[in-house]
Amino acid sequence: MSNLFLDQTYLFTPGPTPIPNRVNAAMARPMIGHRSPDFSVLIEEVATKLMPVFGTKHPVLALTSSGTSALEAAVVNTVAAGEHAVVIVAGSFGDRFATIAENYGVHTHRLNIEWGKSCSPDELAAFLDKLSGTPVKAVFATFNETSTGVLNPIHELGKVVRKKTDALFIVDGVSCIGAVPVDMEADQIDLLVTSSQKALMLPPGLAFVSFSDRGLEAIKACPERRFYLDLNRYVKAYEEQKSTPFTPAVSLIAGAREVCTMIEEEGWNHVVERHTLLRDMMRAGIRGLGLPLLTSDEDASPTVTAVQPEDIPAPDIQKALKKDFSITIAGGQKKLKGKIFRIGHMGYCTPFDVLKVLSALELTLAKLGQEPQLGVATKKAEKVWIQHV
Ligand SMILES: Cc1ncc(COP(=O)(O)O)c(C=O)c1O
Repeated sequence: MSNLFLDQTYLFTPGPTPIPNRVNAAMARPMIGHRSPDFSVLIEEVATKLMPVFGTKHPVLALTSSGTSALEAAVVNTVAAGEHAVVIVAGSFGDRFATIAENYGVHTHRLNIEWGKSCSPDELAAFLDKLSGTPVKAVFATFNETSTGVLNPIHELGKVVRKKTDALFIVDGVSCIGAVPVDMEADQIDLLVTSSQKALMLPPGLAFVSFSDRGLEAIKACPERRFYLDLNRYVKAYEEQKSTPFTPAVSLIAGAREVCTMIEEEGWNHVVERHTLLRDMMRAGIRGLGLPLLTSDEDASPTVTAVQPEDIPAPDIQKALKKDFSITIAGGQKKLKGKIFRIGHMGYCTPFDVLKVLSALELTLAKLGQEPQLGVATKKAEKVWIQHV
């Protein structure tokens, strides 16, 4: 059959994510100089309007680089070579955090969690107990483990860190900030980082960092060598000049202002509720098709759902969705490669988008030889949706 989708493509990866038209329009406006008063107004607006999204009382600072740079910045600004750190590793991105620390010569104690499960407060408490006597400088955690679709109980983990140690609590929020509630003070988080291309509805290219008072003190005191990723430079440039230390991705920051306006218009609590609804619809639909979910309901991420099909190889489903329906989803990473597929549902994503993927999945499974279950997944998802209408 001819191409039914014209030039339309449907992006459901857990980053990058679709960009709203009005954000694209904001990014296409004429360039401004980054040492101009216009830019100072722009960066201040973004830094302050993002504060509720990061649950912080300090302005949120932007780096022009990808999420991994923010992870690296979080390491080199808080722990020095030879110091001790704990890293919770529950998937590919926890592993990345640990690998960065190891590369900088930090004594890295990996708390390995089975992939597909969250780290429980008890597991962290027991691990820290075993390390008692070791001067742990920081505990690193992944808020939302994108590789498995698990949301870690960050509030409870933060409480354990504070109760058991004097360590900083440093959180990779790359695939959930902009979709989940967070309160840096109440959650005991000292540094929280994310990037632009996920729930914040922007193209790749920006990383964001937010601090607690302790976090700010720690980056000032950290002796580790760094230059581009020296967060003190970003704090100073912002405080003294409402600017950035190096040439920033001005257009992306202009897009970020538009994103902030969209979040304000929708209402931050509604943004969070929408993501919960998207998660519940997606899980109900997938279950309706008899496909096993990788994670439990308690651990399930509101931004990405991982599915572990038994009868049809996950990569076959991923390829068929792309070929026949113009839908891009993600596969598994590292030890889950070939075993799962992952559907992103964050940022510029609506309940109709969830129905789109689910209906394509119904058709795809039938095409790949399963007993047709047309309308089954979408009906289950609509039943979740109608409770919110
Ligand atoms: C949780 C998490 N941390 C870090 C990263 C790395 O971000 P980037 O690919 O922008 O460097 C990702 C990317 O998917 C992620 O999902």
